[in-house]
Amino acid sequence: MNTTDTVRILGIETSCDETAASVVENGRKILSNIVASQVELHAQYGGVFPEMASRQHVVTIYSVVEKALKDAHLSISDIDAIAVTQGPGLAGSLVVGINMAKGLAQSTGIPLINLNHLEGHIYASWLYEEEEKKVPGFPIMALIVSGGHTELNLVKDHLDYTRLGATLDDAAGEAFDKVARLLGLGYPGGPAIQKAAHSGNPQAIHFPRALMDQSWDFSFSGLKTAVLRLVKEYELQNSEHISRAIPVNDIAASFEAAVVDVLVAKTIRAAEATGAKSILIAGGVSANVRLRKEIVEHSPVDVFIPPLKYCTDNAAMIAAAGYYRLVKGIEPSLELDVRPSWRLAAKGD
Ligand code: KG4
Ligand code: ZN
Repeated sequence: MNTTDTVRILGIETSCDETAASVVENGRKILSNIVASQVELHAQYGGVFPEMASRQHVVTIYSVVEKALKDAHLSISDIDAIAVTQGPGLAGSLVVGINMAKGLAQSTGIPLINLNHLEGHIYASWLYEEEEKKVPGFPIMALIVSGGHTELNLVKDHLDYTRLGATLDDAAGEAFDKVARLLGLGYPGGPAIQKAAHSGNPQAIHFPRALMDQSWDFSFSGLKTAVLRLVKEYELQNSEHISRAIPVNDIAASFEAAVVDVLVAKTIRAAEATGAKSILIAGGVSANVRLRKEIVEHSPVDVFIPPLKYCTDNAAMIAAAGYYRLVKGIEPSLELDVRPSWRLAAKGD
């Protein structure tokens, strides 16, 4: 592929509960970005209900793709390649995006590129809307923190990933969601905890910071259990007629501080240990204001964090990553099946 050409990629993303399509030019410039969120649908269940997610994707996918092309003022014949998330994610959700992408590719002859969702999150840092921005310099220490994943990857060059460590139990976003439920703050938990934490004291309770100085792996289940134990203590006292209101805001702020401390300390230590030139944070939890602020304050190297709307699931990041795969000469293929547990990279030494 001649990289001086203008390459327009249609990205399609349906790995979880957002139906998304986007057109991105040369891996960076967003021409359109449509995200149909199902958050209200799932809020009543306190989490994503896989079968409903899949059915809702079926209902919305066609109009989402149509709108992405319309907003970009393009028709399908102007598209050079289609990039679709193949995994990881919910099988029943992934299959809807893949079938849409396959159908389009087959009927038009446009090449189809498979994408890892986490790779997409990383490439969110290359995106821009109006003004071109600086891009991260390699090697990059990438922290991916979402509802399903928490991992540290060293990105030596485009598409060259080595996993340093990952969570041994809950993902950071999952911990936010579970603790929010414990505190009765609703779903999705991340934004709800952040809001409550705003009026709380992050030093009020000292929650555990697991594996802080050892290993590149993470563990958040002990922290979640510590919150559960504390809430139960308050409930017990209340049932024994000692009325003590649960200090929800202080618990939220102290929990958020514990998660952020671990994420920031490990990422910076990993960047220093590997000689990374930049740090990148990606995934839904990178929308967290405390995390964004703390990492920028403490990092010795440049930090790249996408604007809020490109932190959570979207298809622009899939189209961006698709461009770099296309340029690298990854063979397009129509032989795609879902890969719900697809790992971005093998674990390094
Ligand atoms: O990347 P994402 O949209 O979907 C997955 O691939 O999982 O991430 C969703 C996760 C949820 O767990 C949500 O609670 C969390 O990101 N999240 C946040 C914030 N906004 C979203 N966590 C902490 N603070 C936030 N502001
Ligand atoms: Zn995601």
